[in-house]
Amino acid sequence: MPTIQYDGQDYFCATDETVLESLERHGVMLPSSCKSGTCQTCLTRALKGKPPTASQQGLKDTLAAQNYFLACICKPDEDMEIGLATISPKYVAKLISKDQMNESIIRIRFELPDEFSYRPGQFINLIRPSDELTRSYSLASISSDPFLELHVKRVPEGRMSTWLFDEVTEGDELSFFGPSGDCFYLPDDPGRTLLLVGAGTGLAPLHGILRDALEQGHHGSIHLFHASLATQGLYLIEELRELAKQFTQFEYTPCVLHGNTPEGGKQGNVVDIPGQVLGSFNGYRVYLCGDPQIVSDLRQKVFMAGASMQDIQSDPFVFAPA
Ligand SMILES: Cc1cc2nc3c(=O)[nH]c(=O)nc-3n(C[C@H](O)[C@H](O)[C@H](O)COP(=O)(O)OP(=O)(O)OC[C@H]3O[C@@H](n4cnc5c(N)ncnc54)[C@H](O)[C@@H]3O)c2cc1C
Ligand code: FES
Repeated sequence: MPTIQYDGQDYFCATDETVLESLERHGVMLPSSCKSGTCQTCLTRALKGKPPTASQQGLKDTLAAQNYFLACICKPDEDMEIGLATISPKYVAKLISKDQMNESIIRIRFELPDEFSYRPGQFINLIRPSDELTRSYSLASISSDPFLELHVKRVPEGRMSTWLFDEVTEGDELSFFGPSGDCFYLPDDPGRTLLLVGAGTGLAPLHGILRDALEQGHHGSIHLFHASLATQGLYLIEELRELAKQFTQFEYTPCVLHGNTPEGGKQGNVVDIPGQVLGSFNGYRVYLCGDPQIVSDLRQKVFMAGASMQDIQSDPFVFAPA
């Protein structure tokens, strides 16, 4: 059983247990959010001992070489002394506006800190000041916007989303770190066809990617499919229709599983609709965001319909189990 030394104390890691699980079992709380190696909130550094390579997935080579690892997916093979990572600066910014987009989604905009730079579609990790609870949210704004924009869904009994919905008000200061993630527009081939698919607040990164592509002069076709269970769950419909009028290469298809279908929209499972409308995805660059199951199913579908794996970017909004 490997021993983890943290803050001068030794903790045993049981068979098949991650460093994060072991410390939590002993009552020691490290920052964490997704608990599945996506958000990098639990970034930790091995001061002694070597973390397994699998625990460094998605980290920059420079970080991996310095023995940084993700505690939530690290099942150690040897004794390690670890310390919390402090590589990402924390930013503080005032909330400018909070708008209800529909019954269960808000849009929050806050000041863009001078020194903060990002690619639209990446995500930040928002920190609740009272207890350092940290959650990831995707950036829906683009670099030329004078603010940062997030779309947040209310999760029943969700700690961060309930706080954002019910307590945070204009003028409050929000802290965050990041950005992270590689789901963003690449300007290398402006004539390429792009497919953007997401459900619910999966629209947030897609909204950033779409506007970034248009602003950077992308002239290939861009197909956006945004889904919800029913029409009331969709949002930004008018803004997206306006964009489609303004940019003829952009096509927007709202999708609902049941009930009234919005004008120009489709009814059915969003996993099937893009294939039914477009047929093959050969040569496409694809962006899939939001619900992890939908993202995973779509990944399969678009791959089977001709998209190359390396051209499929995805941003599954994974969350830790209860
Ligand atoms: C890379 C990334 C980007 C993300 N971007 C966004 C974004 O742009 N907008 C957004 O709204 N969210 C986004 N998320 C999800 C977000 O980080 C939180 O997980 C979410 O807001 C719930 O946090 P919470 O503290 O409110 O709920 P918690 O207190 O963590 O969860 C409360 C309970 O609800 C369950 N739960 C949590 N989320 C869900 C869910 N979606 N469906 C069903 N059960 C759930 C938990 O298992 C738990 O039992 C993203 C996640 C990742 C990893
Ligand atoms: S990567 Fe470890 S908690 Fe998200």
